[in-house]
Amino acid sequence: MSNIHVRNNLDAPHAGKDSPLYKMIAGKTGAVSLPSLNMLDYSSLWSADWWGFDSCPVYANLSVEKQNDVLARCNQSLLTEAYFIEKSGLAYSAKMVLTARNTDEAQLFALIGADEAKHLAWIEPYVSADAKQLPRGHFLSFLSNLIEEYPPKLLVYLVQIILEGWGLDHYNRLAKSCAHPELAKLFAAILKDEALHHRSGNVLFDASQLSQRDYSLIEDALQHYSLMVRVGPQGALAIVDEVAGGLSNSDLQSVLVALRHEDETQRKLLLLRQLMNQPLVSRVVEILDEEHCFLPVSLREAVDCFVSSR
Ligand SMILES: [Fe+2]
Ligand SMILES: [Fe+2]
Repeated sequence: MSNIHVRNNLDAPHAGKDSPLYKMIAGKTGAVSLPSLNMLDYSSLWSADWWGFDSCPVYANLSVEKQNDVLARCNQSLLTEAYFIEKSGLAYSAKMVLTARNTDEAQLFALIGADEAKHLAWIEPYVSADAKQLPRGHFLSFLSNLIEEYPPKLLVYLVQIILEGWGLDHYNRLAKSCAHPELAKLFAAILKDEALHHRSGNVLFDASQLSQRDYSLIEDALQHYSLMVRVGPQGALAIVDEVAGGLSNSDLQSVLVALRHEDETQRKLLLLRQLMNQPLVSRVVEILDEEHCFLPVSLREAVDCFVSSR
């Protein structure tokens, strides 16, 4: 592994719609390019109700334009995140093909890579050129670090079992509630492929081969995962704060309540725990239990976390 180094080039550009390669990729994947992104009403993709804004006094007090702006930006953030996750799948699969222990594994990872390239081609037309240049947030840098630095035998657990298992829940929620029929279909199709990616992680992960160092790398990664979830929907909170023009701490708390921090974050943490809790790794999960890693932080702590990074 030491002589193979894969970089997750998140901001690598696309050649553009008119390039021959772009057309070949679109032909092969069935990706449909949109005439213009200006025609797409981002605010209508997932509803205010889906986000929880329908019960949010701060949101209700905004003008209709600002409400639409909040919704559009929140919905855009879902597409941008999906774009960068699928793009990361290219680097992931490349590393796993190059380090495969046998032909079947190499074939599997090449097939997964083809799926990720297809997913990327499907989502890419819905993401603005600016957003494609701006990979943002802790999660993407955490994922890049895993892909670039972690040994492949741990990645099948950390990426395929946990992250792709998480993705099944996430894409399912996006597919079920998306008001744009074409996008809803794309997310449903992605979901089908991701199920196999997740399942193959379960087949490949062999915890009996893990060293002490592997366990400590796993513990670090699991703590990182859980912390990112524990602090709740910080991205959506930042969008409301920015559009509203700087909220007080109590308003920030009420936005978090509306975004269902307390129950939805808890649900996500339990899902994460369930995905993490594989045979021979359960001791690490128990350590995280002892450290309360699967409990959402309080509203006050979630707001403090947001304010400290504002
Ligand atoms: Fe994917
Ligand atoms: Fe995948």
